[in-house]
Amino acid sequence: MAGEATRGPSPRGAAVRKAVMLLLCLGVPTGRAYNVDTGSALLYQGPPDTLFGYSVVLHSHGDNRWLVVGAPTANWLANASVVNPGAIYRCRIGKNPGRTCEQLQLGSPTGDPCGKTCLEERDNQWLGVTLARQPGENGSIVTCGHRWKNIFYIKNENKLPTGVCYGMPSDLRTELSRRISPCYQGSISMCRART
Ligand SMILES: *[C@@H]1O[C@H](CO)[C@@H](O)[C@H](O)[C@H]1NC(C)=O
Ligand SMILES: *[C@@H]1O[C@H](CO)[C@@H](O)[C@H](O)[C@H]1NC(C)=O
Repeated sequence: MAGEATRGPSPRGAAVRKAVMLLLCLGVPTGRAYNVDTGSALLYQGPPDTLFGYSVVLHSHGDNRWLVVGAPTANWLANASVVNPGAIYRCRIGKNPGRTCEQLQLGSPTGDPCGKTCLEERDNQWLGVTLARQPGENGSIVTCGHRWKNIFYIKNENKLPTGVCYGMPSDLRTELSRRISPCYQGSISMCRART
C-alpha cells in the first residue's frame, strides 16, 4: 500500500536524523532534570470551582512573602451579583499555619467608568487568568481578565471583548490599584493592527 511505502527509511529521513544529531552535538540547549520537593511542599487551597491556581506568582514586599494566586471563575466578595468575574488571592508564606488566602478587591463594586463609548460587563471576565510580577525588590503586580467586555454597542448586538488589567503596588494595597485597558478606543485600532 502507498501508506506503507512512505514508512521505510528514506535518504531524506537519514539526512534529517544526521542534522538533528549534529545540532545536539553543537550544544543546542536541551531539557535538564530537576527534583520537586514534594515532602515539604506548602499546600494552599482556594474555594472550589474557581480554577484557583490557574496562575501563580511568588511575591515579596519588605519582610513579607506571598503566594499570589489567580482564580478566574471565582465570585467577587465585594459584589456577589457579578457572575463569576474571577479574582486573585494572596496567601502569606510563613506565619500562616492555617494556610489561609485572602481575596484582593480590585475595581469598584459599583462599577468603573471606562470611557465615553464604554459600558463594562464584568460577568465571566476571567480576572486572574494571567498574573505577572515586575522583577526585583518590591516589584508591582499586574493581573488581567481577557474576557472583560465593552457592551456600549449592545443595541447593535456588539460586545467588544477588549479585556482589562489591573496593576497594583508591591504592598498589595488594592485601593492604589490602577485599571489598565490598552485596547479601548483611541488605541483600539492599534491593538487590532497588532493581532
Ligand atoms: C521595599 O519595601 C520595603 C518595605 O516597605 C522598604 O523598606 C524598602 O526600602 C523597599 N525597597 C525598595 C528598593 O524600594
Ligand atoms: C454590582 O454589580 C452590578 C453589575 O455591574 C451592578 O449593577 C450593581 O449595582 C452592583 N452592586 C453593588 C452593590 O455595587
